[in-house]
Amino acid sequence: MKIVVWDIPTRLFHWALVASCITVYITSRTERYIEFHAAAGYAVFCFVLFRIIWGFVGNRFARFSQFIKGWSETGKCLSTLLSLKPPRSIGHNPVVGWVVLIMLFVLAVLSISGVVIYSGEENKGFLAGYFTFASAQYALSLHTVVAYAFVVVIVVHVSAALVHDFVFRENIIVSMITGTKEDSQGFALGTEGAPPQGSGRSARLAVFLLLCMLGGWGLVSFNITSVLSSGPVSESFSSVDVLDDNGVPTPFVVNELWFGECGESCHGLFHPTLLPEKSWRAVMAGLDEHFGDDASLDSEETEEILKFLIANSAERSTTEASQKILWTLGEATPLERITKTPYWLKKHSKVKESIYNRGSITSPSNCVACHRDAATGRFDDTQIMVPD
Ligand code: HEC
Repeated sequence: MKIVVWDIPTRLFHWALVASCITVYITSRTERYIEFHAAAGYAVFCFVLFRIIWGFVGNRFARFSQFIKGWSETGKCLSTLLSLKPPRSIGHNPVVGWVVLIMLFVLAVLSISGVVIYSGEENKGFLAGYFTFASAQYALSLHTVVAYAFVVVIVVHVSAALVHDFVFRENIIVSMITGTKEDSQGFALGTEGAPPQGSGRSARLAVFLLLCMLGGWGLVSFNITSVLSSGPVSESFSSVDVLDDNGVPTPFVVNELWFGECGESCHGLFHPTLLPEKSWRAVMAGLDEHFGDDASLDSEETEEILKFLIANSAERSTTEASQKILWTLGEATPLERITKTPYWLKKHSKVKESIYNRGSITSPSNCVACHRDAATGRFDDTQIMVPD
């Protein structure tokens, strides 16, 4: 007798999750696609949330109560499987039941740690600014280790599916598409706690809509305009926060003197969050020989600009660029050139010398030529555009 085992929401969930996980994997290879990685990650989170709800209200084979069993039953099932005999079940057998739970748990850990990283490191996502850069780094270690663990779980899952199909001849992969299975031994009849088969059209429709909504949320949660925009360089200097004396994030406020002296009358501005305090002290102490020019100011002006630079130095910043520059600098002598910091050198190692010589760029220190958001200090990956 052919019966419906996997209801529509369960099947949709399964393949939507597969698609999101593949997207997450592909977009994890480079930071360039981090927006898509995050969007797919949000979608994974939504699908996991949906599956947990569906584990309580779905059709009988979708319910946790039907496939999560105690140790003794799970142990029995495991020994049957190990002796390569098909287990006596038509839905998930108890061993698979635990694997399903583990997968949901691992995916929840991955997506939640992802949200923390996106917020703390990139200052993005719906929790942007709620986590510090340091907590994002802890989350990143967890995210990386668990991601590898998940790959192992997936390999086990897919191989088990292949064993069921080719050794036990159960056709389970196709059943996850069609939803039906051949129940020649009448296993389904003996299924305990079974609510009536199929939980009604309206319930299905509701869940369908929920699924679409949740998936859609994943897609819209990343800022599409930041990916597509090619507008003029943002003149807004206030889009980053700096920490005040008590470690509380406060908006960055531009100092007019700095803006005039260092920006308008000389070179383009370098955001103060890009160098640590000791570097700015060294820069301001050596203005008479400022990278080959005499840029001396009177002592009051020097004092005011230095105060501003220190109040907004890398140590007080929450941006990824500033924190990574600080990290790679370690205890190095006060470097006065941003373009000599190990992080900068590493990030630009693939940019060829000849590119800097283009008329539209002229020098590596012309940050704004390639980084549309240089003025904000953020240096977001999506805002990089190397001009011809
Ligand atoms: C010729 C164009 C060009 C110039 C000029 C340039 N950059 Fe970049 N920058 C790039 C490119 C391209 C990348 C991306 C490298 C990658 O990810 O492979 C990058 C990456 C970065 C990153 C890392 C962004 C991230 O989150 O991964 C930072 C920070 C950065 N640049 C800062 C600067 C600063 C500061 C200056 C000026 C002193 C500057 N850049 C000048 C092209 C440029």
